[in-house]
Amino acid sequence: MSKIAIFGAGGRAGRHAVREAQARGHEVTAVVRDPSRYTGMAGERVTVTAGDVTDRGSVAAAADGHDAAIGAVYDATADPEGFYVAAADALSRADVGRLLVVTLSTLLEVAPGVRMLDSPEFPAEYRPFCLGHAAGVDVLRAAPLPVDWLAISPAGDFRHGGERTGSYRVSGLDMDSRISYADFAIALLDEVETPKHHRTHVAVAGGDLVVS
Ligand SMILES: NC(=O)c1ccc[n+]([C@@H]2O[C@H](COP(=O)([O-])OP(=O)(O)OC[C@H]3O[C@@H](n4cnc5c(N)ncnc54)[C@H](OP(=O)(O)O)[C@@H]3O)[C@@H](O)[C@H]2O)c1
Repeated sequence: MSKIAIFGAGGRAGRHAVREAQARGHEVTAVVRDPSRYTGMAGERVTVTAGDVTDRGSVAAAADGHDAAIGAVYDATADPEGFYVAAADALSRADVGRLLVVTLSTLLEVAPGVRMLDSPEFPAEYRPFCLGHAAGVDVLRAAPLPVDWLAISPAGDFRHGGERTGSYRVSGLDMDSRISYADFAIALLDEVETPKHHRTHVAVAGGDLVVS
């Protein structure tokens, strides 16, 4: 049993990560900005606490001493670069053994050295958000050892409303692939329990569910 702090615990990825961790017998600190909005979330081995992932002191108070922390955050109102850089900075300074940060498939390469977000046909309006995520991952890359971080994303996208199939595969960029949030949570918890990838970006796709 591990102690796991999950930031963005009220969001789609975070909520499924809380459930998966709880089902596996872990002790979960579910971190949300306003616990009064999540009154039904606390339960067996799940404690809800207030925290802001962009604030170092807040992250330390919520996560320090845990075996692992997971960041699964999105704020449509924030400047993406400021938000993801601050979050990565705060999370990478947390006193945890393992750090997982949910990031974007568009940071993956379409060709050697060319990220999808840099390809000529990539929609300009999405670039600032993607660059914000990328800047956050750059902060992780610059983190000194022994921070055992992993950036993890879908290989394509999430399958909204998708079921838990119980399987996933590690993949390169595969924009046709979809993974349910429940299966993504399995990948997250597998990397917490048995870390296989370190200080890199790994992507996961859902079992055989492929959209045309
Ligand atoms: N194709 C892809 O690669 C792809 C697709 C979709 C999403 N993603 C990424 O996956 C991650 C998770 O997305 P999601 O779909 O789960 O998002 P979501 O459902 O919108 O949840 C995001 C959560 O972040 C929390 N949050 C926002 N600001 C915060 C702060 N300052 N401190 C703490 N928590 C904060 C919010 O919590 P409260 O409002 O409850 O406080 C919210 O519950 C994001 O990084 C997103 O960019 C990737």
